[in-house]
Amino acid sequence: GLKKKEVNVLCLGLDNSGKTTIINKLKPSNAQTQDIVPTIGFSIEKFKTSSLSFTVFDMSGQGRYRNLWEHYYKEGQAIIFVIDSSDKLRMVVAKEELDTLLNHPDIKHRRIPILFFANKMDLRDAVSSVKVSQLLSLENIKDKPWHICASDDLKGEGLQEGVDWLQDQIQ
Ligand code: GTP
Ligand code: MG
Repeated sequence: GLKKKEVNVLCLGLDNSGKTTIINKLKPSNAQTQDIVPTIGFSIEKFKTSSLSFTVFDMSGQGRYRNLWEHYYKEGQAIIFVIDSSDKLRMVVAKEELDTLLNHPDIKHRRIPILFFANKMDLRDAVSSVKVSQLLSLENIKDKPWHICASDDLKGEGLQEGVDWLQDQIQ
């Protein structure tokens, strides 16, 4: 058959936001793992959609590893940025990391698509995706296509909508 187009995606966001859980759910069921542990450094994962073959750099969100992110910015053709919608205390930290990302020379002037997952919507403390986009000032992103999806990794809700959007941006 036709060879799918290869796309490098960076998966970013604070530790414990659910990045690895999301990427795991996007893989074919026979490639999914049962036990997800905090990522050390980063891990390279693959998943496919109808027309694309994604290589994901699933980065650790822990403070001590966040300085690794920027080394992969040049290679990234799309970004998935995951937020724990129930972690109100660290929403400002997530915003700081996002602002640093958006101002980085390897990202700043590129029309790179950014998919946001407002994750952990199943938790009682979770704020809405509209609220998350306000807290992160996403309306200020004018030079890149972006989209925010509410997601619940445990049920797998919202993931397909997000990935469909990303695929459309890359065609
Ligand atoms: P680092 O690798 O440390 O950067 O974290 P991560 O962003 O990869 O988070 P990970 O996928 O390891 O998930 C952290 C914890 O959150 C795990 O216990 C997951 O089961 C849990 N989790 C992930 N998504 C959801 C969700 O949608 N709802 C709830 N309730 N828990 C979630
Ligand atoms: Mg992880």
